[in-house]
Amino acid sequence: MKIDILTIFPKVALAPLSESIVGRAVAEGKVDLGVHDLRDWAVDKHRRVDDEPYGGGPGMVMKPEPFFAAVRELRGGGDAKVVLMTPQGRRFEQAMARGYSAAGGHLIILCGHYEGVDHRVVEALVDDEVSIGDYVLTNGAVAAAVFVDALVRLLPGALGDERSSEEESFAEGEALIEAPCYTRPPEFEGMVVPEVLLSGHHGRIREWRHERSVERTRANRPDLLGGQRG
Ligand code: ADE
Repeated sequence: MKIDILTIFPKVALAPLSESIVGRAVAEGKVDLGVHDLRDWAVDKHRRVDDEPYGGGPGMVMKPEPFFAAVRELRGGGDAKVVLMTPQGRRFEQAMARGYSAAGGHLIILCGHYEGVDHRVVEALVDDEVSIGDYVLTNGAVAAAVFVDALVRLLPGALGDERSSEEESFAEGEALIEAPCYTRPPEFEGMVVPEVLLSGHHGRIREWRHERSVERTRANRPDLLGGQRG
């Protein structure tokens, strides 16, 4: 899989993708990741990428020319899907991460900043507008890092233990969030690990985990059980 991120804050996107599991997947070539400074495609000598909005209003709008030039160059005549990170997009969820990760290929991710991106970019270049949640960030590069992290960890071999993505919260066919987990010591400041987890009894452990999953889902995410989001 090949992923290019276009942003005016490349360091913001790159830092979280350089460490840990994703950093290792990149280093091992499981994903070919490029993080690019959109200003490299600016058309004037001040490397300007934004301008005032037509029709007035607060904030600045990102100019179309740098996006068009950058996407043309990064696409290089090949096939690429273009995603725009924006709070106006479709809400990102694990199923979408699975879809993008399984599709592989070449992804070009555009990061919005300021008030928004000239809509001609959305109409002519973008295949999918994606929001990572119903809140507004100052920086689309943060959203791009979240999106790419979630995709890359699902690539074959990215996680050490494949089961960890098959049994986790939001896994395919999994309607419940995960049960609580514990590690050593068995007692800490008077708080003890549930006895069943120390019992070695796999059947009882499975049953306990399922009950806690249901309980936790009901408390934290009733929407997953068909109720209202709390
Ligand atoms: N840019 C600013 N806020 C965002 C969000 N919630 N999702 C994606 N991109 C964004």
